[in-house]
Amino acid sequence: MRKKIVAGNWKMNTLLKDGMELAKAVEKLEKEKTSDALVIIAPPFTHLSRVKELIENVKLSAQDCAYEASGAFTGEVSPGMLVSTGVEYVIIGHSERRIFYNEGNELLNKKVKLALSEGLKPIFCCGEVLEQREAGKLFDVIREQLEVGLKDLSTVEINEVVIAYEPVWAIGTGVVATPDQAQEMHKFIRDLVVELFDEQVAENMTLLYGGSCKPSNASELFANPDVDGGLIGGASLKAEDFLAIVNAY
Ligand code: 13P
Repeated sequence: MRKKIVAGNWKMNTLLKDGMELAKAVEKLEKEKTSDALVIIAPPFTHLSRVKELIENVKLSAQDCAYEASGAFTGEVSPGMLVSTGVEYVIIGHSERRIFYNEGNELLNKKVKLALSEGLKPIFCCGEVLEQREAGKLFDVIREQLEVGLKDLSTVEINEVVIAYEPVWAIGTGVVATPDQAQEMHKFIRDLVVELFDEQVAENMTLLYGGSCKPSNASELFANPDVDGGLIGGASLKAEDFLAIVNAY
């Protein structure tokens, strides 16, 4: 059975106290939710262990992880450290990591493999920039990001992965993909997963949409057969808006 997921990526927002309040509010509203979607929050690294103590039903994700397990990598946080803090998911390959920190597909593949080997479930992001879409290269870009990023994963491993399609032109811009644009790409991704893995893996794969998703547009996006939830940025910073998106299912 394919899992429905709504995940909140807080990015570099909230100081500890505000983050703890937000997590508490999300946990409270989650208990009253009307949908069966799994709710995940991805606070900044500094908040994870404190937030973990405040949540029960809500699952915890990190926003990134290191590509090595331990050692002299100043400033990095390893998947094992995240697991030891109670983290279950990790966002890998967000376009902000790809663009601002030059993270390429090979490096992201290392992160995915290490995260899986340490017991984390990757939320692997892909997405094209506007110029690539306008030049008709969008499907080639997504194919390469997924072919390389998810290379050499076993069936057991790929079954732990969630894919998030986040068109870069829709992130934080207020310009949301139309339901048809989202469905078209999600269908392409599911077909690609059949090609790279198999039918069963693709059928069970949760595919999230991300990019200016709000309470007002979530239900028409989620109504698509290949959209299994959302990865929410700005609207996840208000518990009421975030849970309104969850309840849009
Ligand atoms: P916004 O919802 O703010 O557009 O961000 C989407 C995103 O990048 C989630 O990872």
